[in-house]
Parts: sequence; structure tokens; C-alpha cells
Amino acid sequence: MARFIDELKRTHHCAELRAAEEGKEVVLFGWVASYRDHGGCVFIDLRDREGITQIVFDPNLTGHGDSPKAAYEAARALRNEWVVGVRGVVVSRGKNKNPKLPTGEIEIHAAELNVFNKADTPPFLIEDEIDTGEEKRLQYRYLDLRRAPLQKTLRVRHKINQVTRRYFDDKGFLELETPFMVKYTPGGARNFLVPSRLHAGKFYALAESPQLFKQLYMVAGFDKYFQIVKCFRDEDLRLDRQPEFTQIDVEMSFVNQDDVFRTMEGLVFAVWKEVLGIDLHEKYPSGRFPQMPFDESMTKYGNDKPDLRFAMPHDDLTALVIEHGGGGVSFLADIAKKFESGQLRRDLPGEIVKAMRVPGEHAQKLSRTEVDKLEDFVKGMGAKGLARAKVDKDGAWTQSPFAKTMTAELRQAINVKLGAKEGDLLLFQFGKASTVHTVLANLRVHLAKKLGLIPEVGHGGVFNFLWVVNPPLFEWDEDRTTWAAAHHAFTRPHDDCVDLLEKDPGKVLCYRYDLVLNGFEIGGGSIRLHDPDVQARVFRALGITDDDARAKFGFLLDALRFGAPPHGGIAVGMDRLAMLLSGAESLRDVIPFPKTQKGTDTMTDAPNRASPEQLAELRIRVVEPQP
Ligand code: AMO
Repeated sequence: MARFIDELKRTHHCAELRAAEEGKEVVLFGWVASYRDHGGCVFIDLRDREGITQIVFDPNLTGHGDSPKAAYEAARALRNEWVVGVRGVVVSRGKNKNPKLPTGEIEIHAAELNVFNKADTPPFLIEDEIDTGEEKRLQYRYLDLRRAPLQKTLRVRHKINQVTRRYFDDKGFLELETPFMVKYTPGGARNFLVPSRLHAGKFYALAESPQLFKQLYMVAGFDKYFQIVKCFRDEDLRLDRQPEFTQIDVEMSFVNQDDVFRTMEGLVFAVWKEVLGIDLHEKYPSGRFPQMPFDESMTKYGNDKPDLRFAMPHDDLTALVIEHGGGGVSFLADIAKKFESGQLRRDLPGEIVKAMRVPGEHAQKLSRTEVDKLEDFVKGMGAKGLARAKVDKDGAWTQSPFAKTMTAELRQAINVKLGAKEGDLLLFQFGKASTVHTVLANLRVHLAKKLGLIPEVGHGGVFNFLWVVNPPLFEWDEDRTTWAAAHHAFTRPHDDCVDLLEKDPGKVLCYRYDLVLNGFEIGGGSIRLHDPDVQARVFRALGITDDDARAKFGFLLDALRFGAPPHGGIAVGMDRLAMLLSGAESLRDVIPFPKTQKGTDTMTDAPNRASPEQLAELRIRVVEPQP
């Protein structure tokens, strides 16, 4: 008997053979996906990463001596997930072909079988659709990954990586590495710490991104850099956040914001073309994505990552409410008074009043109970309630707490501002600006899903890209009542805003940008500050003293003094890209070995305890939580 692997090499993969190969002798390797003993013949589906081929073990197969009989006997013992090799002949299935399988025209009549390995009964079926809980699937991730949907997803990742490398190489970018074990620098996400044994008591941080090092590459003259790189952030996890994730990280010298945009638009067009076969030029003929100022995004959509697959924008009614002294509604009058007395300032984020108009054609699909339920939904996000109004004939409001109290003038003014028509549903939020924005932003998406304007999960075949641009450099820290860097302290302000750094920091806009796809931030970056004078003024505006700045970013400040070129860049969340591209619900569906929502790896049982010896060596003592 010929020896499989050594002498009998694989001739085809399991999705390859067609009727044209009829009569050929072939060798296939793979896993038993299913078996059926039809008394007299055994049928198996043989699976490898490419697909499935049906194998028939018929003891009476002629022309191969006794070996078909031996193969048949051995096949009767086969079970799911055993690993086998088969030598056999391609035979047409004639009328019995299976149109669902690419190989459905043929089957292999086995002359020889080799069992490479048996398998325990798997804890779940290796099938496309299974209802096994995610915890179990992650515990046996290597089996989960055998399933076709996950095999497909990982191929998408592979393709994104290949397209990215080709694209940047063609454009003259160098793929350069940066260290993972770095100095802890404050700001941004929380870092994981890595204890040093050689310097017991001291710690490295795991890099949350290559940010500072890619800037050092620019100082070093490398001009165009990219890297597909792991980043580590000790954050609370969500469906679109993992503690360990991958960025397509880019930095360029002698560029402005538009140069960065063009570069990244080119990449996205290439990825969509090569991975999905979609030419984004049909939707974006100029090859460019639209842009929206940050301020407009916040006002209309409540956040800086609007899903523009549907409309339903918000409107800010604060100025109207102040103008009308609250229009007879006591809590609106309270807000108006706070502005009049100077307790709230219009130039600082404080309290606001916003509304969203649900057009009648959609509103009519919502029963009164369903609208009541929206109130529970917003309360779950910290809202006190959800004031509403149904617009009647002549612009009157019904089903509304404001129906009797609000002056006709304010109601009319609001109707005009919102463009309200008979049958529309108006939803209101007021109070702390950040809560109002978030609540209405989430409500907008929640409603769009409920109304079928976008699918619950996935892209629904629509990809809506947007650059959100020109955000403020600083954000108001309500707790510390000071300005804080909104991104990082090395973002370049617009040239015409530099004079406002001291006078009116809240008005300073900067060259920071986010790339948004269907309501997800898939990338973000900025043009960096390379001018030491402006840098010093930004630090001063942030209340960072020279000593503080030196202690925190000394090495970067030093480097920037040795002839730093103007530079800027961006990082795209590659896992998010893969998730949105493949219509998956969570990052866990597109990361081969992800962490659970609690940040654990249930397969290897990480994180786990260190031994007393390891801890002693690191001079670390663990303080157990109090019972
Ligand atoms: P930023 O922090 O915006 O920028 O990150 C860039 C992109 O990375 C993705 N991302 C994540 N994906 C999964 N899990 C996470 N925990 C996670 N955090 C971020 C997002 C995001 O848009 N150094 C800067 C880039 C630059 O300025 O050049 C940076 O890291 O898609």
C-alpha cells in the first residue's frame, strides 16, 4: 500500500473537482464532516478549508484489487472530525448531482483510505449555522474556526492585509515596526503594564498604538510609513472594542489633511474592490468621501460618527428656548433662567435642549405602546425621560406633556425649526449636553433599526463613508472645570485659530479627523504639531507646565527640536473594517482568537495567577480583595 503524504501527495483540495475531471485518480486530505452507512456503501463528506467533496466507499469497486474492500471496512468505523486521506477516482453523479455544492457534480469512489487521526466527539457541530453559546465556541475556538463562516471571515482579514501591503508598497510606503513594550505616557487609553524583572518595581506599558514612534520615524526621515500592528488598551469592552486589536497605521511627512484623506480613500477603494468586488466609484464617482464638520455632526446626530444610511437628524432648540424664556414650560424656563443669570454660558458645553423629528411615514408604524417603550430605552442610558409630541392639524401637539403648557409661539417656532408636519412624532431631550447628545444619538439608531431603515446587524448592502473634520482642539472637562486635550496634545491647530489659544481656547479648531462607516469610527488621525512655539502655547492652554511636559513627553519634545518635518497620519481599526465589511455583529466574529466581553480567554484560561516565585522575582505582592 502506498503511503499517504510521503508517496501519495494531495492532488486537489475539497472544493476543486468538477465533472471535467471524471475518470481521474485523485488524492484528497481532510476532515470527516459527515458520514452515512447505506448498508453496502459508506458515504462521507470530506472537508478542508476550501470546501466539501463527497466520497463513496464501495467494496465492489473494480480495478483496484482488494483495497476498495479494505477501505470500505475501515470507512465503516469513521466518525465526525476524523482526519483522513483518500485515494480514489472521480465519478460523475449524473442525475443525482447536488447543486448546493461547487463539487456537487461529482463524487470520489475510494480505492484507498488512511486514517491520520481519530477525534473525540466535538462539543458542538461543525456546521454553518449553530446555536451553541459563544462561551462554548470560544472555549473550543479551534473547532469553531473550522466552520465555514469563520474560515471565510479570516480569509477576508488575509485579503485586507494583502491589499493593504500591496497598496502602500506601490505608493512608496515602508512597512516598519515599532516596539510593543514602551514607556507609559499619560493620556489616551489606559495601558496594560508589564513588570520588569531586571528592574524590579518598574514597569513597561504595552503600546496602545505606535503613535509616538511613528512620529519619530518622520523625524528620522522615513517620510512614508505604514504598519499592520497590534495595539493594546485596557478599556471596558464593547461589541466594537477588544483589549488587543489591529490597526493599519500610517504616517506621512510633508502632507496636509487632504493628502492623508486621498491616501486612505485609495486604500478603502482598493480593499472594497478586491475583497468584496465592489467598485466604490459607483457611489463616490470622484473617488472622494464626503466630509462633515464635527460641530454639524454633534448638532445633527449627537456624536462624531453618524450613520448616514438614513436621515432623522436632530436639532438644537436651546437658543429658541432661551429666546422664549422657556415658553411656559417650567423645566425649560429653568434652563432659560440659568442662561440669563450667567450660571450657564453659551460658549461652554452645559445644558441644552434638542429634538428629533420622526417623519409621519415612519411615525405611523409605531404604536403608542412602542413609543412608551422608547422611554424605557432612553432611561437605560441615564435620561430622565423622553418628552414627546404628535403633530396634529395646524401644528398643534397631542399626546404630549407640553400640549397644554407650552406657549403657541414657542411651539410654532419649534415646528418651523424642525420642519414639523401633521403626523410627525417629535422626541425631546434636555439637560446635560453630553447626556442629551448621547441619548438622542443612540435613540436615532435604535429607531432606525426598529423602523427597518437599517438592518439590526450588518451593512444591508449599503456602505456610507464620511470624514468628520475640524473638531475643537480642546474639550471642556466638566469635573475639573478646565480645558483638556480632546485627542492628544500633539494635534496641530488650524493656523487661523492659533491666536485664540490664549483668548478663547474653546474655539480653536484642529486638523484631526475620523473616518466613519455606517455609524462606526473605522479610523482616526491628525496632522501633528511640529512647531515647538505653538506646542508650548498648547501645553500652556492645557495647564501643563514645562516640567510636566518634560516628564511626560521629554523624548518626543527633544526629537521635535531636531528638525521635525511637517507630518500627519491616521490609523484604521482593521478589526472594525473586517467586521463592517463582512457584516458581522461583533469584533469577536472577525478576530481569530478574541477575548470575551470580560476580557478573558476561556480557551487558555487567561489571565491567570502568577506563581509566588514569579511574583517574588518581580518583587510584586498581590493584594486580595476584601471579602
Ligand atoms: P485611535 O485611538 O482613534 O487613533 O484608533 C484608531 C482606530 O483604531 C480602532 N480602535 C479599536 N478597535 C478595536 N478595539 C479597540 N479597543 C479600539 N480602539 C481603537 C478604531 C479607531 O478609529 N494613534 C492614533 C492614530 C493617529 O492619530 O494616527 C490612534 O490610535 O477604529
